[in-house]
Amino acid sequence: MARPGSLLLMTDTAHANTELAARLTIDVVDGGGASGTMAEDVLAGLTAERKQLPPKYFYDDAGSRLFEQITELPEYYPTRAERELLEETADGLMAGLRPVEIVELGAGSSAKTRRLLSAPTAHEHLRRFVPMDVSREIVESSALGLLRDYPYLSVHGVIGDFERHLGRIPQALGRRLVLFLGGTIGNLHPPERTAFLTGVRGLLGPGDRVLIGLDLVKDVPTMEAAYNDAAGVTAAFNRNMLWAINRELGANFDPDAFAHRAFFNAEESRIEMHLVPSVAQEVSAPDIPLHVTIRPTETIWTESSYKFTVASIEEMLTGAGLRLEHCYTNEHPDRRFALALAAPA
Ligand code: AVJ
Repeated sequence: MARPGSLLLMTDTAHANTELAARLTIDVVDGGGASGTMAEDVLAGLTAERKQLPPKYFYDDAGSRLFEQITELPEYYPTRAERELLEETADGLMAGLRPVEIVELGAGSSAKTRRLLSAPTAHEHLRRFVPMDVSREIVESSALGLLRDYPYLSVHGVIGDFERHLGRIPQALGRRLVLFLGGTIGNLHPPERTAFLTGVRGLLGPGDRVLIGLDLVKDVPTMEAAYNDAAGVTAAFNRNMLWAINRELGANFDPDAFAHRAFFNAEESRIEMHLVPSVAQEVSAPDIPLHVTIRPTETIWTESSYKFTVASIEEMLTGAGLRLEHCYTNEHPDRRFALALAAPA
């Protein structure tokens, strides 16, 4: 069930508060925020033949801060490449599509989205922004900033998981542009990706579009360096998942006993991140209940980050009832990233 959100407003006059609140709606999908399935995911993942943990558990508060640091690393090109592309394409996209609303899946702080909201034509056609994210705090605080900065806009936030709760996105007000930025789609394996994109297709009417950020295949050293930074931030990000599991589930991982390993798996066209124990680790979490031994000959696979080609993007979209209308890419060969604009097929 959706319930209305309460707000902590930080503007200085009551009038301004009322005015902003009148343009804001927050729906919370039950179980959509802190999902109750971490214990199940950890139990299933660590007792599987190939031990694995889902990458969504990277992003507790500490992990989200580490990810912010990753985006600023010299080796980590995708965030800068995507920002550059948006910089180049935002005004033209908005003038061409003239969306009445923008729906952003996995919106986070919507920092890049501001580039679209700031397009010169936006105030003529855009009425509503619909951010979906699992973090209520992030959606609320970014919504307040957007409401202040874009007086023509209303914000309807949906607190939920884009893989499970697309049905909770409100009915369209008019022509819709759906955004899925940041390369997050690269975390989904092909079957999950098709299911997700099929759900996105269901959000689109005839004139609507979806814009997806994807990292492209490039030379292996460039890709591998982005996940093996010299400062060790990605290693800390990887190990942080074990700290989060200790805290949330009362597990007894010794995160420092695990080495970070990241490499390009060419067969599957993905960077894989793993945690590798230096000596056998006994791990338990009595409440789950979990008790496993992790040997130095095995790893915990924590993330896949798929890398695409224009051909693989087209194939993936076609499989979900979408048609690639335009693929915007960077000139610089070492920093190639794609913004794929797709329409219902
Ligand atoms: C946020 C999923 C796009 O796959 O590059 C960064 C996450 N992992 N460094 C990515 C990540 C390690 C990132 N995505």
